[in-house]
Parts: sequence; structure tokens; C-alpha cells
Amino acid sequence: MKCCQCEGIERQFNAEDAENEIDAYRTEGPTETTQYLIDALTEQGVDGCTLLDIGGGVGAIQHAMLSAGASTATAVEASTAFAKAAEDEARELGWSEQVEVRHGDFVELAETLEPHDVVTLDRVICCYHDMESLVRLSAGRATKLYGVVYPRDVWWNQIAFRTLNLFFWIGRSPFRTFIHSDAGVQRILDQVGLARVFYKRTFIWQVAVYAQEN
Ligand SMILES: C[S@@+](CC[C@H](N)C(=O)[O-])C[C@H]1O[C@@H](n2cnc3c(N)ncnc32)[C@H](O)[C@@H]1O
Repeated sequence: MKCCQCEGIERQFNAEDAENEIDAYRTEGPTETTQYLIDALTEQGVDGCTLLDIGGGVGAIQHAMLSAGASTATAVEASTAFAKAAEDEARELGWSEQVEVRHGDFVELAETLEPHDVVTLDRVICCYHDMESLVRLSAGRATKLYGVVYPRDVWWNQIAFRTLNLFFWIGRSPFRTFIHSDAGVQRILDQVGLARVFYKRTFIWQVAVYAQEN
């Protein structure tokens, strides 16, 4: 992977973090906002659908969508440790046949990926510097539904994320977090013909599902 942020992702989402995430997922299940996204997608109907889960971490959405009737899940994960954790967890839960994990930066791999019925990015947009490419390329691969969780573009998040970045800078990590503009994300989704069918927000996050209009 070429980008500086991708080096940061490798350092940030490392083996120790993956182990902690697996433990948390096994004991507590999906996080609150991930569960909102899962419920909203399931409500829209995912039976027989193919899923492309970008930056899926340990695979919570993949397992939930397969349990809800999705046919296959393709995970694209930029972190080596999380790609391995997703593969291990899929095997552990008996989904090896249905789950394919690809390691790499989605933006670099996008051209090699087929369109999928459902595309998800759960807390991924805030980990990537080039929102325009990430959202445009991923939305362009969603033939039915597009689900996202990303931070609200509000002043308290701006302060919190800048503070986090200060700590990364002090720790000499190339990893940064980003609050991308709501209007910027919305403009791209409008352009590719995705209409919002679900929206919920917490103090920090917004969860949205979009459907293809045609
Ligand atoms: C904050 S974690 C979220 C993991 C999981 N989706 C969740 O909500 O628990 C962000 C994940 O996105 C991955 N990621 C960030 N940018 C990516 C990209 N361009 N391509 C693929 N994966 C990416 C990171 O490696 C990391 O696993």
C-alpha cells in the first residue's frame, strides 16, 4: 500500500488491537452503532445479496448479514492484523466458504472489485484522508444498498478528533483521524443516484443507509 495514512493504519490497527476487538466482539457482540446499521440493512432486505464490507475490522457486519440471508461477503481490510482476525473469526463461526478477505487499501483495489448488492463502511470514512475517492469508488460498487457509519460534522467532534491527532503526532504515528464534511459525502451519494432510506445519530456518530434509486 502506497499512502502514508495506510502505514498509520497498519500501526494503529495492529495485532494487539485486533485481539482486543475480537474479545470485545465475542463477549459483547457488535457495537451500538454497528447494530443500528445491521438492523437498518436487514430491514431493507439482504436475502441472497452479496456484501462488500470495506474496513470491516473483525467482521461483525459480515457475520450478521450472512446470518440474515446474504449469500457471500467480501471484506477489504487495510490492516494486516485485522484482515487475519476477520479470516480467523469467519473460520471460527463456520463462514469460511462464504467470506473472502482481501488485504489492502480499498481505493487501490477498487478497480479489481466487482459491484456488490450491499456495500458497507462502518467507521472507516474517518480513518481515510481521501474521502472523495473512498466514497465515490465504494458507492459506485453498490447496486442495491449502501450503509455507512461516520462521525458527525460538529464542533465537539472537530475538537476531539484534532486532540486525538495531536496525540498521534506526539507519538510519531502517521495515523490521523478525519471529520469529513457531511455535505461533501452527501453530494457524492446524490451524484451516484443513492437515496437515503435510514438515518440515526448518536452524540458522535451518524448511521445512514442509502438505496439505489433505479
Ligand atoms: C475504526 S476501524 C472500524 C472497524 C469496524 N468496521 C468497526 O466498526 O468495528 C477502521 C477500519 O477500517 C480499515 N480501513 C481504513 N481505511 C481503509 C481503506 N482505505 N481500505 C480498507 N480498509 C480500511 C482499518 O484498517 C480499520 O480496520
